[in-house]
Parts: sequence; structure tokens; C-alpha cells
Amino acid sequence: MERQHSRRRRSARTQEPALAQPVASRQSPRPLLTWSLIACLLVALTYFSRPLTHLPWTSRIAPLPGRPQRDPAAEGRPRMALHPEDHVSRPPATQHLDWRITSAPRRPDGVLKQVYLINDLFPGPTIEARSGDSLLITVTNAVEGDSIALHWHGIHVASAMDGAAGVSQCPILPGGQFVYNVTIPADQSGTFWYHAHSGVSRGDGLYGGLVVHAPTAKSTVRGLLSPGRGDAQRFNYQKELLLLIGDWYHRPAKDVLAWYKLPGSFANEPVPDSMLVNGVGHFDCAMAVPARPVDCIEQLANTSFLDLDPDTAYRIRVVNTGALAGLSLVFGQNHIDLIQVDSVDVKRSQQEDVNSAGILYPGQRMDFVLHASPQHEPSTMMVQLDQGCFKYMNPALTPDQTFPIHYRSASISSEAQVSAPTVRNHINVENVPSSPSILMNLPPRAQQTHVVYTKIQKMARNHNIPEGYFNQTTWKPQNDPPTPLIGLPRVRWDSNQLALSTGSEAAWVDLVVNNLDEGPHPFHLHGHHFYILTVQQASYGWGSYDPFSDPYPPGQEPDMENESETPEAIDPNFQPYDLSRAALRDTVQIPSRGYAVLRFRADNPGVWLFHCHILWHLATGMAMLVDVMGDPTGQVAHDNSTAASGLCPV
Ligand SMILES: *[C@@H]1O[C@H](CO)[C@@H](O)[C@H](O)[C@H]1NC(C)=O
Ligand SMILES: *[C@@H]1O[C@H](CO)[C@@H](O)[C@H](O)[C@H]1NC(C)=O
Ligand SMILES: *[C@@H]1O[C@H](CO)[C@@H](O)[C@H](O)[C@H]1NC(C)=O
Ligand SMILES: *[C@@H]1O[C@H](CO)[C@@H](O)[C@H](O)[C@H]1NC(C)=O
Ligand SMILES: *[C@@H]1O[C@H](CO)[C@@H](O)[C@H](O)[C@H]1NC(C)=O
Repeated sequence: MERQHSRRRRSARTQEPALAQPVASRQSPRPLLTWSLIACLLVALTYFSRPLTHLPWTSRIAPLPGRPQRDPAAEGRPRMALHPEDHVSRPPATQHLDWRITSAPRRPDGVLKQVYLINDLFPGPTIEARSGDSLLITVTNAVEGDSIALHWHGIHVASAMDGAAGVSQCPILPGGQFVYNVTIPADQSGTFWYHAHSGVSRGDGLYGGLVVHAPTAKSTVRGLLSPGRGDAQRFNYQKELLLLIGDWYHRPAKDVLAWYKLPGSFANEPVPDSMLVNGVGHFDCAMAVPARPVDCIEQLANTSFLDLDPDTAYRIRVVNTGALAGLSLVFGQNHIDLIQVDSVDVKRSQQEDVNSAGILYPGQRMDFVLHASPQHEPSTMMVQLDQGCFKYMNPALTPDQTFPIHYRSASISSEAQVSAPTVRNHINVENVPSSPSILMNLPPRAQQTHVVYTKIQKMARNHNIPEGYFNQTTWKPQNDPPTPLIGLPRVRWDSNQLALSTGSEAAWVDLVVNNLDEGPHPFHLHGHHFYILTVQQASYGWGSYDPFSDPYPPGQEPDMENESETPEAIDPNFQPYDLSRAALRDTVQIPSRGYAVLRFRADNPGVWLFHCHILWHLATGMAMLVDVMGDPTGQVAHDNSTAASGLCPV
């Protein structure tokens, strides 16, 4: 695991490396300036020459000469209201969905980009269901030249429905069709999402929300429904809204990835250009980097993500849909009460007047109850992209953006002054343990322990292209033969597949993940949630934990003041982890030169990816596999029907 090249963080933020992307000075060339002035004038004209009320949003977008009047971005849905009332008190059902995936130019933030659409929507349709529902989703790939697979992030689906290209299926070829049977376990509810899991199409908008409502009623043995308490009663809210928030790149994701892989980019992750909330953003055209010209119009985005009814407490479900950056939310006049992370109940905070929560890393979700501001004063929400992972400056990006919160009864006040709120009390989402009732299921010890090392390396023999590694293996979708892993005995997997096997029986497993990299990484396990027992960062050295030779996990040693507890006299009952502070999650941020111990019940048979959720890192191989309840000898495949799905080449 020797590093070939230094990837040291540049302390003074340097500009995007000149070799690949020459960055000119911030000053815009004159034509762009003139153009944006004209745009501003036109916006102002259309905006102020008509009454402000009862204007459909589309008419607030400036028409530019020679451009279509109606901008397709207007089809975005800034406010995503949810309808728990349709789901919480009915028995489980099968929902049939018919999805057609296409690709078309859109202006989510004013900048023209080819984005994926599902049934003409970007982001894709929001799925709402209840625990125990089956979703039969017929996906037709109507995109030219792109294969597609969809993953249902956080749901413990059957392995063959997991949507990981190369692992559980061959991707759907252009013109092809596949029916996903997403059966939601009876014990799962909360905020999830779906996204592409083939290539980098997630970065071009192939994602959407998936909300599973907890039923208020339980089915009795006779199939009748008996009334019970639902989440709205438990957490004391009346309505629900969804926020899909993530970073956004103006170039196609394939070009962004190609840039990342250039030796001259020095493995600096591409810094995003913009940010979208529910498919809508605001971008100042004058900020575009001249070296990367964009087709941009100043459009007055409708940013009413949170227009609220007065006297109503809202459950806000937040998904980080981004490719790279973590994010935090800060509210102005409101306070929040964090109730779930990654769809699991958390221990409620005793702290009063919390108005800030984060950092939420790519793939993660958080749910909180948003309490009204006093006297329904207009309030604000600030989204802050975490700049910790930005290794150079992208002048196009505004990393902190503030949006107004309106109360529907109040007359719409001037949108001019939206000032950034200040943090009164912050909740660090990473440190919040699961609720005590969740932790009751956590055993004091696991039956198996596995250890892996992960890192991004640039090696001369591979032309200094950054590659993600687990142990000595950089992951690529199974290709030789091109059969998904679940359809192939383990002995026939190609050399790009590093797997750990949990044996034929369901078992409690400890997975020790050592991050030897210079950067932190958010890792996601498919098909399961895991209890995070500890996350440590070294103050010196590599910060690794090898459970097979270290007497104690670094940072978790017993109190040495007690003389009898020396490593010579290791107490076999010593419990290094504070299990009362464990967190059940499906994604964990592991710091640079640190490690995490993840304990999970490996009980969902199949082959599951464990990977970094930063899109550029997954695409360069930072992934491995967990073979759950398979044949211990590796001679028998999990599911040999997949090869016959019609998707794989014969
Ligand atoms: C903004 O969009 C919301 C729906 O998401 C709509 O209710 C509202 O009227 C729009 N606001 C304006 C000013 O067009
Ligand atoms: C979907 O999966 C569930 C659970 O695996 C199964 O009971 C059901 O029959 C499946 N439905 C279809 C149409 O295959
Ligand atoms: C990864 O490497 C470590 C150290 O060589 C080894 O102990 C471990 O078994 C490896 N893990 C897997 C899954 O092969
Ligand atoms: C020291 O450790 C031993 C063994 O774990 C324990 O029985 C004893 O109570 C400890 N003494 C103190 C003073 O903590
Ligand atoms: C598929 O699996 C079944 C049961 O494990 C086995 O009987 C059958 O021979 C397998 N078919 C192929 C083509 O491997």
C-alpha cells in the first residue's frame, strides 16, 4: 500500500490545474457580460411589468431572443409535497409503475445540460409506498447509446433487484426493458432514494425520491387492520416535504470523470459548479469559468422548496443526491428536531433551539421536524456544501446558498433580502446514536470479523490515473464472462472482484474498514444496514486497526490507569465499543487515515456492493463485494436465472 505520489491537500486553494483546464481570470469577457446584462434587463422587464401575484412560474422566466419562450426547467417541481394519508392506513399492496427513461436538454439552474428524465421528469417521479408494499417497476430504456440500471438505495431488496450493474444484473441496453420487483420489507420505513448504478449517469440526474411511510395500522392475524400510532403521532408533525439536495456539474458526468482521470488533474476530485434542490438551482451566468463556456440564461428560479402552512409542523425528509460534497442545513427563524438518519430512528436531542444539522454525505438521508417560526415571520434555509473535499477553487460555485421560507397565508414579501441565517445550535449528524429501541437488537459480539484496507492510488504503471482500491483490487463491473456476479459461481469471478464471504448461514459480522487514503470517504453497503460501532481518526501514523494482531482497537484501549488491564492480561470480556452510542446506518463517513468498525447481520442472501458513494471514486474502482449466505466453496452461483433475464449478451 505504498503511495507512489503525494496527493497532499493543497493548503492554499489553488485553481483548477492549468494543464487540463486553463483557468483564466475571474473577469468575464465582454460579450458574456453584455449578454448577462441584457438577460438581467429582460428578466427585470418581464418580472416587474406584470403583477406579481397569480403569475404562473413559467412566465417569470426571461425569454431571450432566439430561444424558446418556455423553458423546460420550468417543469421542475420545487416543492415536493408528500401524501402519507394515501398509504399509512391501508394494507400492503402491489404498485405497478411504468417508467420510460429518456435524455433531453434542460436548464435546472439556467445552464443548459443534457439530463436524464423519467417519464419526462427530472428528478424522476417520487415514489411513495408503505412498509410491505411491492413495487413492480417496468423500466424502458429509451436513451440512445446508454445502458442503465437503477438501485433502490437503503431498501433491503432481493439481490437480483438491487440494480448494481455487473453485480446483480446486466444493465438495460438502449431499447431494452426490465421489471424491478422492489419488495419493501415489513420492518423498513423512512426516507430512501433511487439512482442509476451503471456508469456515472447518476451525475446527470438519473435519480429520484423513494419514501416509505410507516403504517399507523398493523395487520392482525385475520388480515384485519387494528389502529396504531404512526410516525406523525410519534414525532408530532402534520405534513411532510421532500428535499433532494445535491451538488451539480455543468459538464456531462462522463467528461467530468474523464477530467478526474487525467494525470494532470493530480487526483483532485472535480469540484462541482452548482447546487440543485429538487432539480432547481440558481446560477449567476457571469460566474462561469471562461475556460468552460456554458450556455446560460439568467432565470428567476422558483425556489419555494419550503412554502409552509401556518401553525403546521413539517417532517422534512432530506436526501443528499450529490456526487461529491457533503452538506449542512441551517434555518433562520425555525428550529428543528432530528428524528431519523438513513431511515432509522435516532436518539432525540435534548438540546433546545437547534437550527442546524449536518454534515450529510452523498447517499445519506436525514429527517427532522421543522417547527414554525414565531409569528410566522418569513424565514430562510441555507444549504452549505462542505468544502472539506474541494482541493482547488472553482470560482463558478457558490457553496453556501440561502433560500426563503414563506408562510402561505402571509403576503409574499420582497424576495430581495434573503440573508444567511446564523447557527444557534448545531447537530452533528455523524455523532447521533440510534434510538435505544433500535440498539436493543445489537449483540455484544459478532460471530465473524473481516478486515479491509482502502485507498486511492496513482501508479506509474497505470499512467498515474487515480484508482480506488480495496486491498490490492480495484473494482470494475464483472466482464469476463459478462455475467452478473449473482449468476456466476465465485470461483469464476474475474480478477477485479474482491469479496468477503459470510458463509452459508446468516451471521453477525464485524467489518473493519481501514481508510489509508488522504481523503475521507462515505461508504455504502447494499442490501443491509450496519451498526457503526466506532469511527476513529489517527492523530499520527496510518490509523489502521488490524483486529488479528492489535490487542485493542486504536483509540478504544481500556483505561490503563487500572494496572491489571495491561495488554499482557487481556480481559476476554473487555468491550471496547460504547454500544449505547452505536448508529444503525447504510452509509458511513470514514475519515482520512482512520477506520470504522461496522457490525451487521448478514442475512440478505446475495452479492452486495460495499463502495464509496462519491461518484468519481466508485467510477474509478473504490468498491468491493460482500457475498452473503452463498456457497462457502464458491462452486454454486446465487441465482442463475439472472443470466437468462434477456439483458446479458449470450
Ligand atoms: C413555485 O412553485 C410552487 C410549487 O412547487 C407553486 O405553488 C408556487 O406558486 C410557485 N411560485 C411562483 C411565484 O410561481
Ligand atoms: C416480487 O417479490 C416478492 C418477494 O420476493 C414475491 O412475493 C412476489 O411474488 C414478486 N412478484 C412478482 C410479480 O414477481
Ligand atoms: C485484506 O487484506 C488484509 C491484510 O492483508 C487481510 O487480512 C484481509 O483478509 C483482506 N481482506 C479480504 C476481504 O480479502
Ligand atoms: C480494574 O480492572 C479489573 C479487571 O477488569 C476490575 O475487576 C477492577 O474492578 C478494576 N479496578 C478499578 C479500580 O477500576
Ligand atoms: C441453476 O441452479 C439450479 C439449482 O441450484 C441447478 O439445479 C441448475 O443446474 C442450475 N442451472 C445452471 C444452468 O447452472
